[in-house]
Amino acid sequence: MFLSFAPMEGLTDAVYRRVHRRFFPEADRYYAPFIAPDAAGQFRRSHLLALRPEENGDIDLVPQILTNSADAFLAAAGTLAELGYREVNLNAGCPSGTVVSKHKGAGLLGDLAALDAFLNAVFSKAPVAVSVKTRLGLHSTAEFPALLAVYNRYPLSELIVHARDREGMYRSRPDRAAFAAAMADCRCPICYNGDVFTPSDHASLRREFPTLERVMLGRGAVTNPALFRVLRGGKALEREELRAFHDALLEARLAAGLPPVFALARMKELWYYMIWLFPDSARLYKAVNKSRNLAAYRDAVSALFSGAAFDPAARFGG
Ligand SMILES: Cc1cc2nc3c(=O)[nH]c(=O)nc-3n(C[C@H](O)[C@H](O)[C@H](O)COP(=O)(O)O)c2cc1C
Repeated sequence: MFLSFAPMEGLTDAVYRRVHRRFFPEADRYYAPFIAPDAAGQFRRSHLLALRPEENGDIDLVPQILTNSADAFLAAAGTLAELGYREVNLNAGCPSGTVVSKHKGAGLLGDLAALDAFLNAVFSKAPVAVSVKTRLGLHSTAEFPALLAVYNRYPLSELIVHARDREGMYRSRPDRAAFAAAMADCRCPICYNGDVFTPSDHASLRREFPTLERVMLGRGAVTNPALFRVLRGGKALEREELRAFHDALLEARLAAGLPPVFALARMKELWYYMIWLFPDSARLYKAVNKSRNLAAYRDAVSALFSGAAFDPAARFGG
């Protein structure tokens, strides 16, 4: 099974990916959180720097582009091709209101003709392979057959399907029946994404789709960074290992020049997920969240690691 790490804006930045790869090398591929080019295809310098090959070592990394302009997509893809990338991914799934209202992300799914024209322009000139990460629809998963008919007109290198519609945000139950239909009709390699948090989630997905070859993991993997290893039959995450990973990540963020206040914000964002591994730790978690400087944060994290129960089999969301 080919297992990839989902793009997670605010979480799986270049530093995270590097440190994750060092401690848990079992993911086959990482997708970088989206970059949003302007009309000329330019994107933020910090995004460009984070995608330089030297920031990403031997990681198989696919950058992702969020736009509804084929020209902007092609210009950004050209820049990424110059950096050495051979594939870029189109974001057709972001559910945020401000993105969707501009017909970007999942907003691309609301107008089949516009999507078709966009893909037509992209695939007629793309300098690299193009994959798509899509939801099953904007308002309903029943929209997917018509969307897939559009995708099937183009030589996508992969179609990653987050098996919800946009209205389901990150909460609705993934629509496995709609995914089954997609799998039957999709003309390119298809990847399943959505709520695979534990080995038993993965096992039930494999039972339901025995021929499925690709799965993308998001929240489950930021909750339990050893999830890729565990799904491959390796040992469970250990408390000391998580501690070492955490400490290395914090130090790497600081060494990369992130001001402590931003480094702390990033680490707290991650704790929103990792805290599920520490059941009944509300009081200790509160101290982590409330910490205002590095010293207080480090003390609070030490208290959590030494004082809270740890359950490596715990599931994101309980
Ligand atoms: C905080 C957060 C940030 C995300 N950022 C991105 C992103 O940059 N690009 C993208 O395609 N999806 C993004 N996603 C969606 C995930 O890649 C994934 O599709 C979603 O979480 C479902 O998978 P999961 O159930 O395994 O988490 C994000 C999700 C979350 C919760």
